[in-house]
Amino acid sequence: MGKCYPKVSEECQKAVVKCKRKLRGLIAEKHCAPIVLRLAWHAAGTYDVKTKTGGPFGTIRHPQELAHEANNGLDIAVRILEPIKEKFPILAYADFYQLAGVVAVEITGGPEIPFHPGRPDKTDPPPEGRLPEATKGDVFGRMGLCDKDIVALSGGHTLGRCHKERSGFEGAWTSNPLIFCGGKEGLIQLPTDKALLEDPIFRPLVEKYAADEDAFFDDYAEAHLKLSELGVSYYVPFHPKQ
Ligand code: HEM
Repeated sequence: MGKCYPKVSEECQKAVVKCKRKLRGLIAEKHCAPIVLRLAWHAAGTYDVKTKTGGPFGTIRHPQELAHEANNGLDIAVRILEPIKEKFPILAYADFYQLAGVVAVEITGGPEIPFHPGRPDKTDPPPEGRLPEATKGDVFGRMGLCDKDIVALSGGHTLGRCHKERSGFEGAWTSNPLIFCGGKEGLIQLPTDKALLEDPIFRPLVEKYAADEDAFFDDYAEAHLKLSELGVSYYVPFHPKQ
């Protein structure tokens, strides 16, 4: 059986379509696709599959969570996106940030990623320390993602750059930081990027994606969809009386 998604109102569906258009315009105008993708990933990547806490539920906009060290600089993305969010009060922040992440990948030439609204906004930010540090890795298992997802999602580092004042690292991954593509040049590499090449399970996947952009795009889209829906109980049981 496939996944069922919550029924959202027609008004909400329409808002998603309109909001997507506005996001395309804004992200193209401001050249902010990389930081918007980073926001969507940091919003979702706090998920803990065991305790079912964290995840893409809009908490990242709260000052407490933005102040987590891993989120340095993401207040900029929250601020840039806010004027659009204000136009769509019917959408939850939880949905809005994930929709923005999907648009960021799409308008930089990446794969189309399906989007399903219905995430609720939660109030409590997750504890600090859930996101991976550039010098350590292996927190993806805690999120409930698999090896293939890890390698495909690491391809997110085709977009954007590191900023010394935000992370201590400096420089772009590729010479086209605003183009989503496979086969990274690796102008700079974080220790966690390098670790993928040294790992006997990950390396063949890295090589496969470098050689075959279609395979990378398909697997990236699948992994991004999973990431964007972590902890979202989309299974809706059938209630005949409703
Ligand atoms: C082991 C996992 C990861 C680590 C350790 C990591 C670490 C980092 C660091 C240190 C930066 C630089 C931030 C700055 O200085 O502005 C960065 C940027 C970025 N990350 Fe990751 N990341 C990881 C996974 C991911 C994933 C899964 C995605 C998306 C699917 C992603 C998307 C991005 C993007 C788009 C930027 C560029 C932001 C900008 O240009 O402003 N990262 N990441």
